[in-house]
Amino acid sequence: MKHLAILGSTGSIGQSTLRIVESYPGSFRVVSLAAGRNVETAFEQCQRWHPRVISVADEPLADELRARLKAAGISGMEVVHGPAGTVHVATLTEIDFVVSAIVGVAGLEATYAAVVAGKTVGLANKECLVAAGEILIAEARRRNVRLLPIDSEHNAIHQCMRGGAPQEVRSIWLTASGGPFRTMPLEQFASISIEQALKHPTWVMGQRITIDSATMLNKGLEIIEACRLFDLPPSAVKVTIHPQSTIHSLVEFVDGSILAQLSVTDMRLPILYALTYPERIVSDLTFDMAALAQLDFSPPDFKRFPCLRLAYEAAELGGEHCIALNASDEIAVEAFLTGRIPFVSIPRTIEAVLQQTPHRHPETIAEVLEADARARATARNVLALR
Ligand SMILES: NC(=O)c1ccc[n+]([C@@H]2O[C@H](COP(=O)([O-])OP(=O)(O)OC[C@H]3O[C@@H](n4cnc5c(N)ncnc54)[C@H](OP(=O)(O)O)[C@@H]3O)[C@@H](O)[C@H]2O)c1
Repeated sequence: MKHLAILGSTGSIGQSTLRIVESYPGSFRVVSLAAGRNVETAFEQCQRWHPRVISVADEPLADELRARLKAAGISGMEVVHGPAGTVHVATLTEIDFVVSAIVGVAGLEATYAAVVAGKTVGLANKECLVAAGEILIAEARRRNVRLLPIDSEHNAIHQCMRGGAPQEVRSIWLTASGGPFRTMPLEQFASISIEQALKHPTWVMGQRITIDSATMLNKGLEIIEACRLFDLPPSAVKVTIHPQSTIHSLVEFVDGSILAQLSVTDMRLPILYALTYPERIVSDLTFDMAALAQLDFSPPDFKRFPCLRLAYEAAELGGEHCIALNASDEIAVEAFLTGRIPFVSIPRTIEAVLQQTPHRHPETIAEVLEADARARATARNVLALR
């Protein structure tokens, strides 16, 4: 029986994780949950899962949740809040496995604390690795802690890597669906609506990652994530457009062999893999072989998706540039989703922030968070000037 903490329990990955726990009641137990602002879903999860501890974003929300639990006659649950609450959720003594699925850099402190506390971490939150990968990975190595990727591409690579030694890898190929604008004429990009950008062709996900998939910044973050997780230079991490999203990624070995991982496009599979690693357990997630009838691949179009170029540049520079790439995107995506800037301004904002970012390498999580705050402030300035 594995005892779980789920950070981001009210989100897409968090809810998929709970569906797995539901399917395997003898294998996993929910000990603690961390939500953000969705008190309604957090309350329902308390009713269903009876976690020992639950965290929400701030004190008024914690008061609201406590009142609702009391009114429903539910007792014995500790309700905490804010970053300290999330850290508490991630580091309880009885936890064996932490699912890190808070969106954005908000999940960083708790993920780092989980590693320091020696917990195995299933990492969906790619922003943690982009902003603080060097520090997180070094800490995990020092403490012999497993960081298991849940992001489907990195999960696929993790699976393929079992077919050879790290020094036998020539390169890895991250597949990308190309998002909703893969074939849209470039002159129409200026008028892309929020609804169009939120319509991903193959995956149902949270809002930020869906917009990031439309700009392909998501693939850019994944390039950096892959460099860090698998200790590879950016030149060894390649991207191929694969609209069917059937192959989740590929590893090319030095002898020329290529291993690929294929499965249904359902995030429960990589979550299950991480939760049960190094074993595999029976699931009902079967793959329809008819999906192999057509597999298309093409190189990415850097003109159409400037975010990819920006990500490779940031990956080469590392440190504060990776932090700024993520932070400026988070601000720009929020501005797009609230109708304040057009879609095409997302990469422009990121580029302007990167140009103003110093070439430094933060050495602690506190320094990472300071650099993140600086990049956000720069992004807000850039947006105000537009
Ligand atoms: N969805 C996918 O298929 C997928 C695939 C690969 C990787 N990922 C990665 O997984 C992460 C989660 O993605 P998602 O799609 O599940 O996102 P999502 O549906 O937007 O969920 C985000 C979660 O984070 C919580 N949250 C946000 N800000 C918080 C804060 N300040 N404190 C505590 N909790 C906070 C949200 O809480 P409330 O909703 O309660 O506010 C929610 O539970 C992202 O890093 C994403 O890139 C997702």
